[in-house]
Amino acid sequence: MKKDGKPISMVTVYDAAFARMAEAAKIDMLLVGDSAANVMLGMNRTADISMEAMCVFTSAVKRGAPNSYIISDMPFGSDSEPKITLQNATRLIEAGADAVKIEGLPLESLKAIREKGIDLVGHLGLLPQTATSFKQVGRSEDEAEKIFEQARILDSLEPCSIVLEHIPEALGEKVSLATNAPTIGIGAGKHTDGQVLVMHDVLRMHPFKLPPFAKSFANFWEDGVKAFCDYKRWVNEKSF
Ligand code: KIV
Repeated sequence: MKKDGKPISMVTVYDAAFARMAEAAKIDMLLVGDSAANVMLGMNRTADISMEAMCVFTSAVKRGAPNSYIISDMPFGSDSEPKITLQNATRLIEAGADAVKIEGLPLESLKAIREKGIDLVGHLGLLPQTATSFKQVGRSEDEAEKIFEQARILDSLEPCSIVLEHIPEALGEKVSLATNAPTIGIGAGKHTDGQVLVMHDVLRMHPFKLPPFAKSFANFWEDGVKAFCDYKRWVNEKSF
């Protein structure tokens, strides 16, 4: 159900320390994203992260934020067919997730999750696990119509929310008006019911260019490098 007009905040976290921080800030939902592949493991593709790694990150987040609503990404290939999907979703729930997020519309797998009573978060628009480019999607009428139809099908499964990634604002609005489930945008304009960003962008934990839709609220990169330099000087000066 839409959340009474109050926008939903979601941020990715991957470990206990930052999950504790996000819980202290009362962020509505924590996402253990498979972006962990990039930002935590230094891989090039989210598709390369394993189920084992997602379980490790999920359990760490649960330990750091035991009172938060935690969503874990089902990694690439883990939702290929219903039986495997259920096994993998159960592993993430046992590791501490309240819901699992699945990219795209593997319909039989999504139905299996819901029939088992497992909370589901959908993910439409740009799908990083299978994307060959990171350009905005849904610009052409055909593509927009396809995403809109996918959203309606997904919505009929009563997911607890639908992430919409890197689509035009008008499409973000159209989907948000048509679905019962709250939409959580990342590069989907200002009419979605909430927003998700990657923790490393929110805190500016890297020296790289931010995606066009991301925003930083701190500069951990500068502060961190400075702190390490100060520490190194302190050691070199034998001040310890
Ligand atoms: O893995 C992730 O960080 C995500 C967000 C981009 C929504 O799926």
